[in-house]
Amino acid sequence: MELSRFRIGIIGGGNMGRAIIKGLCRSQPAPAILAWDALESTRRQLEDEFPLSIPTDNQELVAGCEIVILAVKPQVIDPVMAEIADRLTPDHLLLSIAAGVPCRRLEKPLLQEVPLVRVMPNTPALINRGISALAGGRHATTAHLETAETIFAVLGETVVVPESAMDMVTAVSGSGPAYIFLVIEALLDAAVGLGLGRDLARKLVVETMLGSAELVKTSGRHPMELKDMVTSPGGTTIAGLAELEKNNLRHAFNQALQSACRRSRELGG
Ligand SMILES: NC(=O)c1ccc[n+]([C@@H]2O[C@H](COP(=O)([O-])OP(=O)(O)OC[C@H]3O[C@@H](n4cnc5c(N)ncnc54)[C@H](OP(=O)(O)O)[C@@H]3O)[C@@H](O)[C@H]2O)c1
Repeated sequence: MELSRFRIGIIGGGNMGRAIIKGLCRSQPAPAILAWDALESTRRQLEDEFPLSIPTDNQELVAGCEIVILAVKPQVIDPVMAEIADRLTPDHLLLSIAAGVPCRRLEKPLLQEVPLVRVMPNTPALINRGISALAGGRHATTAHLETAETIFAVLGETVVVPESAMDMVTAVSGSGPAYIFLVIEALLDAAVGLGLGRDLARKLVVETMLGSAELVKTSGRHPMELKDMVTSPGGTTIAGLAELEKNNLRHAFNQALQSACRRSRELGG
């Protein structure tokens, strides 16, 4: 599907809004892009950096495009929806990336049957290596979901899930990068503890993480099988793994995901 068929408006020019704009600009042929941010200086920056137009406000943005992407913080979602609700029609497609904000809350102020898709991206989207989970609202059809997937493909992989899975998705891939960063940091410090220089340790750890993830992805083999391949009897790897099991790494990740999922439910209300 060619995105150039659409005029796409992005509300919120922060980290995620900019990543989406950058990705859309790269797609060939690129769609017409409109963007609005509360801060005048951010609007000027966006205009200088990207081929897009800045309307006079959020309402003019909605009137000037078919697809509207809400990329503001969850705390300002309700006031932004109050501003634009009466401008949104069934011919629009509304996409929201606000973490934890359910479709029903976004749909509440709408006057018409507006198709809505809720999206949970993650920070590797900043380098097009993200994964975005998408869930349709009450009036979103398969075609709307396909359009939304085409848009979020500019940030990496996409997957369609039922909205009931969104809190679990948030715990796994939304919060996930932070867990991986912590693991990288811990391995890095441990490597420095062994006596390796920090630059060498960083290279060894990061490439090991990337290569291992890529191997799981491309081989399609179970991680346990791949783990067994590097675990020789009485060798170094089994000695290291035994320590990780003794220190309950599995339990720690299990508890972390349960806790993040619970928190996501609480925040969603
Ligand atoms: N970053 C992530 O890892 C991640 C992952 C998944 C989902 N998300 C979701 O993505 C959304 C954006 O996150 P972010 O990290 O990009 O936040 P951010 O950097 O704070 O960007 C939000 C932008 O929206 C602007 N804004 C505030 N009120 C506005 C209004 N009324 N109209 C237009 N723009 C307005 C903000 O301006 P001011 O700075 O002036 O307030 C800011 O530039 C959030 O809802 C978050 O939950 C983020």
